[in-house]
Amino acid sequence: MTDSIPPSGAKALVLYAHARPHLSRVNRRLAEAARGVPGVDLHDLYDAYPDFFINVVADQARLAAADIVVFLHPIQWYSMPALLKEWVDTVLLHGWAYGEGGHALEGKTCWLVATTGSAADAYQGDGVHGMPFDDYLHAYRQTARLCRMRWAPPLILHGAHQVDAAAVEAHTRVFVERLAQLLHNYTSNPYPDQGPNGT
Ligand SMILES: Cc1cc2nc3c(=O)[nH]c(=O)nc-3n(C[C@H](O)[C@H](O)[C@H](O)COP(=O)(O)O)c2cc1C
Repeated sequence: MTDSIPPSGAKALVLYAHARPHLSRVNRRLAEAARGVPGVDLHDLYDAYPDFFINVVADQARLAAADIVVFLHPIQWYSMPALLKEWVDTVLLHGWAYGEGGHALEGKTCWLVATTGSAADAYQGDGVHGMPFDDYLHAYRQTARLCRMRWAPPLILHGAHQVDAAAVEAHTRVFVERLAQLLHNYTSNPYPDQGPNGT
């Protein structure tokens, strides 16, 4: 399934953000696996921009060429690593990504692939983090919505420090399979009678 160009011709931009990749057990493995998927442009942000100076024009061109945009990172302080936040702040500009005249991302799919250190049961009303993990994703969902993107169900691995090597490999297979499926099934307008947000 992953050894040929997707028949849809779709392309994915994977934005990989890990501040200490040499210590990563999961996200680094997922990034390596994504590199091997036809149609994927893997953008290792901390490798490309160690000084946090982002090439906005180049990255807008990479985004424009993609149909699927993947955020791949460990959750840090209930959010994204600092460089990815800087990337969102500088690349998703008003008049380009959102607002008047900002249609560059319209209809593209946004997919969050992330890991947490805490186990799943820590993300409950009576858990240490006080609410379901999905509640922390509001800013991601709304960012995609403001940019008129389609929101794909996130792929989250909780308790990333506890999982053994076999579980990391199993999760990697699920990730590659879903990425290939998103590419395979992508159509520029799945709802011909509706706008991109089902409105
Ligand atoms: C600065 C920092 C903040 C973190 N914040 C959270 C957090 O808010 N919630 C959580 O569950 N884990 C948190 N973690 C743990 C990371 O999510 C965890 O180390 C990562 O998912 C493991 O993936 P990796 O093997 O790819 O590094 C944090 C880690 C760091 C370094």
